[in-house]
This record gives sequence, structure tokens and C-alpha cells, in this order.
Amino acid sequence: MISLKSAREIELMREGGKILGCVLSELKKYVKPGQTTLEVDRKAAALIRERGGQSAFKGYRDYPAYICTSVNEEVVHGIPSDRVLVEGDILSVDVGVKYMGYYTDAARTWVVGQGSREAEELIRVARESLYKAGLDMIRPGNKLGDVSHAIQKFIESNGFGVVRDFVGHGIGRAIHEEPQVPNFGKPGRGVKIEPGLVIAVEPMVTQGSFEVVILEDGWTVVTKDGKLASHHEDTIAITESGPELLTYSEESL
Ligand code: MF3
Ligand code: CO
Repeated sequence: MISLKSAREIELMREGGKILGCVLSELKKYVKPGQTTLEVDRKAAALIRERGGQSAFKGYRDYPAYICTSVNEEVVHGIPSDRVLVEGDILSVDVGVKYMGYYTDAARTWVVGQGSREAEELIRVARESLYKAGLDMIRPGNKLGDVSHAIQKFIESNGFGVVRDFVGHGIGRAIHEEPQVPNFGKPGRGVKIEPGLVIAVEPMVTQGSFEVVILEDGWTVVTKDGKLASHHEDTIAITESGPELLTYSEESL
């Protein structure tokens, strides 16, 4: 069952999303070569708390940390650890905030220090697949398949792979609600997009094959071929006038 949100509920999610956007902006400035991903986790926990939110991930299905930090070939759900970030690594940070009973969810990928042109290009394509391809399709009257297809087409036409095994989702009183929001698919298919629908759209883009495996820790998703991956996610509310990015940060186009 899909729960459409009232204007009041979207207002609360907008507040939570603002907290999340600020947290992402602060983390972007904080991440530097020499830091461990656990330090980034602690910083995120403090930033979320300072602004009156709670981590949506800590304790979710026994997840052990406050955020997810996925480095290089790690696609999503990397667990913060004593791993030291080095110049040229790419780091995806995925943050979920619970505020006044409602969840918002967003992710960004950054180069640590100075990176390769290939890494920058991968990150750009993941980001733009959402803002330049997906977002335009998120409007009342369209279907989710239109969004999925536009994202897939953008990514593949740029020569990258799109992960199939993990998808976006509805979001609200729970972090994962119906419907599923794949980053691949056929136009005209799937759930109707209408005002009140709130979804987390989260393209996961790979340099090589789109195949992924889960490590023994039960969480960390890596590319099968060991090539780089980038993740970009926003929580998006559909209003009468179109899509609204609830987790806006300065990287959002
Ligand atoms: N943004 C991630 C997702 O939608 C959240 C993972 S929850 C965690 O899959 F607890 F696993 F971190
Ligand atoms: Co998500």
C-alpha cells in the first residue's frame, strides 16, 4: 500500500530534509585525506543531533553505525571503520534523518582531495542522472517507469552501468515504504506519480559491469569487478506543481 502524504506531513519532511541537507554540506567540508570513515560517522552523528534529528540508520536491522560510508568499489551500505581515506579515494556518504516521526534519506559521492578525471566523470553522471534526467520525469501524470527509464538511459548513454539489485523507495513514517523506485525500466510502466507521493530516488552507477556482491559483514555492497561506483540520492516530494527536493544541498542542480 502506498501512503500519500498530506501537506502537513510534507512540511515536517521538509524540515527533516533541511537538517539532512545541512549535514551533507558540513560533511562535504569535513572529509579530508587522513580521516577515517568512523570519524566521518561520528561527525555526522553530532551534526544530526545538534540540529534536533536522529539517525535513521543506527539500529535499523541491527545496522551498527549512524551513516553509510562506501569507498571506491563499495557501492552502498559501507560500514564506517578505522579505514583511512586517502587522496583520490571516492567516498559515498548516505545519511538518513528521523525528525518528528518522519524520515528523509540522501546520499552524495565526493572525491577525497584531488581525484582522477574518470572518478569525477562517474560522480557527475550519477548526480546528473537524477537532476538532469530523472527529476524532469517526476511530475503528476507520469509513471515511475518514466523516471526509471530516463535515469537508466542517461547513465548507459554516458557509458556507465546502472545497479539492478538495489532500488529507491517510498519514504515517510518508515525509511523504506512502497513503492520501489528502480533506476532502470520501461516508460509508461509502474505506479502513477501523483501529489502526496514522496520517494527516495537513488541511482547507483558503476564504471564497469553493474553486477554487485554483498561482503561477509552482511552489509557492504561492492562491484563484482572491483571498479568504482557512485551513489546519489535525494528524498523528493511530488506536489501539484511538480517535484520538490526535500534534501537539497548546494550540489543539487
Ligand atoms: N539509503 C539506504 C537505503 O535506502 C539506507 C540504508 S539503511 C541502513 O538502502 F541502515 F542500512 F543503513
Ligand atoms: Co534510500
